[in-house]
Amino acid sequence: MKTSRSWFHIATFAATTVFTVGPALALSLTRGPYLGRPSDRAVAVIWDTDQAADSRVEYAAPDGVWHTAGDTAATTHHVVAIAGLPSGAVIDYRVSSNGVQLAPESTFYAPRDGSDTRFRFAVVGDTAEGGTVLTRIADRLVESGAEFAVHTGDVVYPSGSQADYDRTFFVPLARWLRHGPVLPALGNHDIRTSRGQPYLTNFVLPPNGVTNNPRFYALRQANALFVCLDVESSDYGADSPQYQWLVRTLAASTATWKFVWFHEPPYSSGHPNRLVRLILCPLFEHFGVDIVFSGHVHLYERTWPIHDFVRNGRGVVYITEGGGGSPLSTFHKEDYSAFVAARFGYTEVQIDGGTLNLTAHDPDGLVFDSLVLDKPQPAPAATVRVPRQLRRHLGRR
Ligand SMILES: [Fe+2]
Repeated sequence: MKTSRSWFHIATFAATTVFTVGPALALSLTRGPYLGRPSDRAVAVIWDTDQAADSRVEYAAPDGVWHTAGDTAATTHHVVAIAGLPSGAVIDYRVSSNGVQLAPESTFYAPRDGSDTRFRFAVVGDTAEGGTVLTRIADRLVESGAEFAVHTGDVVYPSGSQADYDRTFFVPLARWLRHGPVLPALGNHDIRTSRGQPYLTNFVLPPNGVTNNPRFYALRQANALFVCLDVESSDYGADSPQYQWLVRTLAASTATWKFVWFHEPPYSSGHPNRLVRLILCPLFEHFGVDIVFSGHVHLYERTWPIHDFVRNGRGVVYITEGGGGSPLSTFHKEDYSAFVAARFGYTEVQIDGGTLNLTAHDPDGLVFDSLVLDKPQPAPAATVRVPRQLRRHLGRR
């Protein structure tokens, strides 16, 4: 009897112990899930856990068949890349680690290949302080049907520290981040911690084939080329690897639409970066870039088309989208400015073949500026004439 009682007490103690400490040992989600774009054709699903565990993503295209991708290696930072999805399909997905589903099921858009000519994307910028403005913008982005969001930089104030990413970025934008990747540019604040190392750790972006880290990168989506530059921590002079990569990337593109984004605006009624204007804008004009997006100045601005440094009937349109929630800036309207307003908000771009519709929205979705661009289908790449001074970057003489 004594022995039986002992076993009874041990069993009771063990059961009580398991019940008591079980919740503390349970695997918890500490960030995400959120999304990345490691290449033209792939999406990365990313999440962090408080304990090392395996990584598993279950996903289904509209045919309803579920597939599994993952990694059995134990980690607290989980990155699972998924490729081979039907172009533009809405994909259901759910994440788990060690057999525990960590978040409700969500959806994302599969990347679009060159057979597609219709899609939407959004532009946000200077989300740096997070807060309720950014939460409202996140809700609008989810409703907008945007397939990803370009970010014009200054992702996190004051210094791009990993300790500030959750409070100022991942938490206020969480609702959007489960649905669409953010494709960010490095801002002057983002590089204050280890030259932007937390940014490089958090975002999964396509390699550029030139530098170890994708501080600058390019993506093809449907009939459009997207090029992100780094004017904060990488040289962009004519002999720099970034400049040479940019020339090669733009010259090789047959996309109907070409978009470039980076942090400091070359044309702005606030604080233009005239060095960027002198060095990079002639390239944008030469290679037929349609719109350049920047941030840094906390307002929304759209220029007239600019060519040879002046307002023109043709040329490149420069959009400043810096209304992501940081204190708004003052400005003095420049001659090349078509519209400028110190307002919070975000920008939407809808592509339909050779027609582009751009709309600027406040955090409640109200449209306060718009632009329509139409163009014929692109000329073949072979007809692009490259000036003598650029030929050395392309290996042509
Ligand atoms: Fe900035």
